[in-house]
Amino acid sequence: MDFKKRILCIGAGYVGGPTMAVMASKCPGYKVTVVDINEDKINRWNSKNLPIFEPGLNEIVKKTKGVNLFFSADIPTNIREADIIFVSVNTPTKTFGHGAGMASDLQYWEKTANQIIEYSLNSKIIVERSTLPVKTAQAMERILKSKSNGLHFEVISNPEFLAEGTAIKDLLEPDRVLIGSHQTESGLKAAQEIVDIYSHWVPRGKIITTNLWSSELSKLVANAFLAQRVSSINSISPLCEKADADISEISFAIGSDSRIGSKFLNASLGFGGSCFKKDILNLVYIARSYGLFEVADYWEMVVKINEYQKERFVRTIIETMFNTVVDKKIAMFGFAFKANTTDTRESPGIHIAKKLIEEKALLSITDPKALENAKIDLAGIDRTVVYEPDPYKATEDASAIVLITEWEIFKTLDYESILKRMKKPPFIFDGRNILNHSKLFDIGFNVYAVGKPPLNHFD
Ligand code: UDX
Ligand code: ADP
Repeated sequence: MDFKKRILCIGAGYVGGPTMAVMASKCPGYKVTVVDINEDKINRWNSKNLPIFEPGLNEIVKKTKGVNLFFSADIPTNIREADIIFVSVNTPTKTFGHGAGMASDLQYWEKTANQIIEYSLNSKIIVERSTLPVKTAQAMERILKSKSNGLHFEVISNPEFLAEGTAIKDLLEPDRVLIGSHQTESGLKAAQEIVDIYSHWVPRGKIITTNLWSSELSKLVANAFLAQRVSSINSISPLCEKADADISEISFAIGSDSRIGSKFLNASLGFGGSCFKKDILNLVYIARSYGLFEVADYWEMVVKINEYQKERFVRTIIETMFNTVVDKKIAMFGFAFKANTTDTRESPGIHIAKKLIEEKALLSITDPKALENAKIDLAGIDRTVVYEPDPYKATEDASAIVLITEWEIFKTLDYESILKRMKKPPFIFDGRNILNHSKLFDIGFNVYAVGKPPLNHFD
């Protein structure tokens, strides 16, 4: 079949895979190929057992794979053939050297830029899809120009706003698509090509075009604002616990003000995921590098409150269980950083599990989709940890249940039957406020939620 254009995506991860699957399904005239240096990952994309779980992803991949969507480990050939290259490689926080713990580690991204120049035989549009520090496009352009042999690479920013667990819905019905380009003739022409792709399914009014730097920075700011909402409500939760107020009632009361809005106000044991912390630290690092110390300090507090909230949650568990969890079996409900994903990156569960292991508790972790990743996260320190797919078995003889992830299944378990087989006194620590606390209390649990007065049978 003759395709109108050839789109390549470098990086077959949580961003690249779902984005390209949706793009292929909506643009049958385009050939869409996804490459990755990790051959195992490509093999899994080419099998029935996809490397990531997203509701609706399997169905879309099934319809498009082999028709106009292809997964390949052959990076040189695919770079050569592509007209438009989306870059979706990982950009984790640097763990070494200058900027460690704050700046983005751009080594994967720079390697990609070098691969593009090495294998290209014609001019191309390069689209930054992964989240990058502002002005990355400039560095990318410099690398691409340095040995371009007369070829022209126009760099466009098209940040992703998809949230895991709802990635397919977010891609199919986005609030907006953001496309940033240089305001030059070639920049605007390239931006139009990307607009044309999204116009296959996104109303034109929802496609925002801006200059390159606004687009890069908008991505960081969007995530910083979202994380700030979670930290803001979480910062009020210890106050509620002291003052006999209820954080859910406060969220509802303030969220009813249309200026504030009701979304993203669920108090929790802390936010996780690969983006929030990384993007805020990036913003902080950039602000500090421009000498904007007050700005940097302001945003850094969002991360500090999150660390405090995780720490506070684990401290409550230990103190409530009479200041010792040594040899006590604790069932952890969930390990993913949020429901409906296998992803555990930056999950508060990692921090909680490590602390409880350090305190010599015996963990039994249950999660419908993330046990494989939990094993990787705790490798080397999990001698006493049991990974148990069945929540009923995970709670047998346990002294406490610690709810980490808001999976639906945890709401509908038979807690009376669970309670019968637990050690007494039985504790539940609900890190997501999703359980029916008064009912659990009535059947005999001592219930500790985030930002709510405890319900216990001790007084
Ligand atoms: C986020 C952004 O939402 C998305 O636009 C961006 O492209 C990538 O980063 P993601 O990390 O997948 O997406 O999940 P999100 O739904 O934003 O949740 C992040 C974390 O905040 C999760 O741990 C979640 O449980 C937590 N959270 C969210 C709360 O604790 N309370 C809330 O009210 C909302
Ligand atoms: P994200 O959540 O940003 O999608 P992931 O880690 O899920 O992050 O995916 C990024 C993917 O990019 C990984 O599968 C990784 O192997 C791939 N990758 C990193 N560097 C390169 C490279 N130079 N060429 C091709 N793929 C790469």
